[in-house]
Amino acid sequence: MKIRESLALTFDDVLMVPQYSGICSRNAVSTTTRITPTIECAIPILSANMDTVTEASMAVMMARTGGLGIIHRFLSPERQAAEISRVKRSESYVVSEPLTVSVEADLSTALDRMKEAHVSSVIVVHGDGRLAGILTNRDLSLAPDKAGKVSDLMTPADKLVVGEEDITLAEARKRLHQHRVEKLPLVNKGQKVVGLITAQDILKLQKDPQATKDDRGRLRVGAAVGVRASDIERAGACLEAGADVLVLDIAHGHSKLGIDTVKALKKSFPDAEIMAGNVATPEGVRDLAKAGAVSVKVGVGSGSICTTRIVTGAGFPQLSAVLACSEAARECGVTIISDGGIRTSGDITKALAAGSHAVMLGSLLAGTTESPGAAVVRDGRRYKVVRGMASLSANVGRMEVDSGAEVDPQDWERVVPEGVEAVVPYRGPVRDILHLLVGGLRSGLTYSGASNLEELRERAEFVRITGAGIAESRHHDVDKLK
Ligand code: XMP
Repeated sequence: MKIRESLALTFDDVLMVPQYSGICSRNAVSTTTRITPTIECAIPILSANMDTVTEASMAVMMARTGGLGIIHRFLSPERQAAEISRVKRSESYVVSEPLTVSVEADLSTALDRMKEAHVSSVIVVHGDGRLAGILTNRDLSLAPDKAGKVSDLMTPADKLVVGEEDITLAEARKRLHQHRVEKLPLVNKGQKVVGLITAQDILKLQKDPQATKDDRGRLRVGAAVGVRASDIERAGACLEAGADVLVLDIAHGHSKLGIDTVKALKKSFPDAEIMAGNVATPEGVRDLAKAGAVSVKVGVGSGSICTTRIVTGAGFPQLSAVLACSEAARECGVTIISDGGIRTSGDITKALAAGSHAVMLGSLLAGTTESPGAAVVRDGRRYKVVRGMASLSANVGRMEVDSGAEVDPQDWERVVPEGVEAVVPYRGPVRDILHLLVGGLRSGLTYSGASNLEELRERAEFVRITGAGIAESRHHDVDKLK
């Protein structure tokens, strides 16, 4: 046994020393970061792979705003892949595999498909893939009878405006406007459907120029996977659906199981980018990087809903963990993500200054409109539920997903939870929260005289403070108005 005598610190234990700044406006700073060799984000924020935080709706808004959402793994592989597909389909300059239905199909089949994929139209095709028509919500919504065939209500191909396979964005835009239509099916010389461009997606391109997108213009999204043998198949399904990064999600990432799983994922999917974690030490970063991870999540027991430190006695205060891991990350050429314990925009600035390339947020985003689940009202106030992925209910939920059956309450006793169930105030759209957090971060950069995150890492200087310093940092001696 040995004892480390050096102090280990977390966000509240320090402040950043204000430094000379030549930057005139917080809008003049860049918050762009590279998370993996191919994924660059305009804002260094990831939404956590928790079932009360990130499914498709959250991931779409995270990517549109310039961050990245990681779809959790506590659902069947098919459902997880479907969530990924929803994100990838949600917008792109060209939908390369648009939803199609046979011209001979029943209207009810087309309706089910559209609902499942959350889209407002479906391309109708002949058996050989040639364009037969298009069916939209508008064709269906007031139809007295939905019992017929797709061909009864669709707009047929000879009345459609179409585009060529290699049409430019400018030309597509012009054609959509000229004919006042919303959808432009793309066909090749043989009239086979090869894509779709929608007016809405072109508008979205303008609205969110900093969105995190892949080279086909689709929003980026990550997929969490676990360490079981079956998780290789899960990873395959998620990659097939378009996941941009696999996130190995395990409480103690610096373990044989964690390292072997990174190796196995790399072997099965050599081109996939892997983020792995969680760890709290430089050795953990080195071992996961050696196994093939390009990014490592740092944080053990720091999360708002975690009880790992209490239940197991293990963990490491978050700021020191990030500081220690950042050096190893630099040596190995990987990035690190500070995961857990972030409560304010100031904490984000500190985590990035300490060397992380992005932060991952759980409970800060769990109260937003886009998190899974409905808001609940308690004493006239709205809240949303957030739960640790090692909490009792999450463990039971996982057992039910695995077995496909309800778990006998007697078996609940087998669970040793390392997280809690909780509620957080309802906070409205995630875009608004991110606006506040990134605004605070931008200001934080200027206080260090840094115009980008790399400069922040180089220039930042922390000063340790006492309990009195913490008290002085918060508003004090006033009654705060609601
Ligand atoms: P915040 O503080 O942002 O933290 O809510 C989110 C992170 O917490 C981790 N997490 C857990 N850790 N037991 C734990 O010890 C749990 O049940 C649990 N659930 C989530 C995870 O790293 C997440 O991103």
